[in-house]
Amino acid sequence: MSEQSIVLVAPELLELSGAAPEWPMGAATAFASPAEGPGLEFNARVVAVVPLVSQAVGKPELDRYPALRVVANYGVGTDNLDIASIRSRGIEVTNTPDVLTDATADLAIALLLAAARRLREGLELARCGEWDGWRPTQLLGMGLQGKVLGILGAGRIGVATARRARAFGMEIVYWDRSASSRMEAEAGATRHERLESLLALSDIVSVHVPLTPETEGMLDAERLAAMKPGSILVNTARGAVLDQAAVAEALRSGHLAGAGLDVFENEPEIPAELRELPTCFVLPHLGSATREARKAMWELAAANARAVLSGSEPLTPVIA
Ligand code: DGY
Repeated sequence: MSEQSIVLVAPELLELSGAAPEWPMGAATAFASPAEGPGLEFNARVVAVVPLVSQAVGKPELDRYPALRVVANYGVGTDNLDIASIRSRGIEVTNTPDVLTDATADLAIALLLAAARRLREGLELARCGEWDGWRPTQLLGMGLQGKVLGILGAGRIGVATARRARAFGMEIVYWDRSASSRMEAEAGATRHERLESLLALSDIVSVHVPLTPETEGMLDAERLAAMKPGSILVNTARGAVLDQAAVAEALRSGHLAGAGLDVFENEPEIPAELRELPTCFVLPHLGSATREARKAMWELAAANARAVLSGSEPLTPVIA
């Protein structure tokens, strides 16, 4: 690849496309992470990177790739990127909205049901070989009909989750910095301007805000204490939006009846207390993990990189 430009892509992404990607002006693909790169002598030729949401792109990576023109994130969340530094160097930054909305909303509902119907405890009882038979009071959970679902964050995934929950007969309330006409029209949802009033009212709270300095630690011990006793918490957004130790304590004390958590602050670490609590249903960040969504994410990330490299506007630039 003597004089060729280089696009950095995670090796696994090739499995999703089936064919080696083609780039404008015959740029070559290097299957490496932004932290490793193609090797010292080739770094200066890297013009695009497609980072996974678990891979940081900040000043060290930007210094390593002086010819970089686009960071095409493979994911909708961009908290792995130092956007200010990327932009300050005139580099484009894109993400993959829409294509993973249904998959992630489906998983939020799966977690909501798992926590409400105590599926972890049921599975453990069924598998331990000591189940002694059907009983009227065994592992009673929360029925969803008529219950209030509080959605934090009225973006695409929040709205899609709310729409699904309506089919279970739930009433939807939401909190966001601004009113969402989509949330109100599509899910009949009512906005609460004060987070505390939503928390006090909701039987289940589902988190859909991006991780930003404003949302980091948003559900701290005090806010968790403001949740309705016996309520349930679901998180498919980012782990650091919650105080994980405070969630564990709220589950231990019974203040929260259950939690369904797909994301954690320092992935791949899942705190032992959350893994071990029987009322906590944990998953390893599977929100967008359908064949359809992961393939569409790759196609969109690659299309964004291609557009920028050929001098066009990217399809889904990160706004703001
Ligand atoms: C994202 O895209 O931000 C998810 O967390 C991974 O699909």
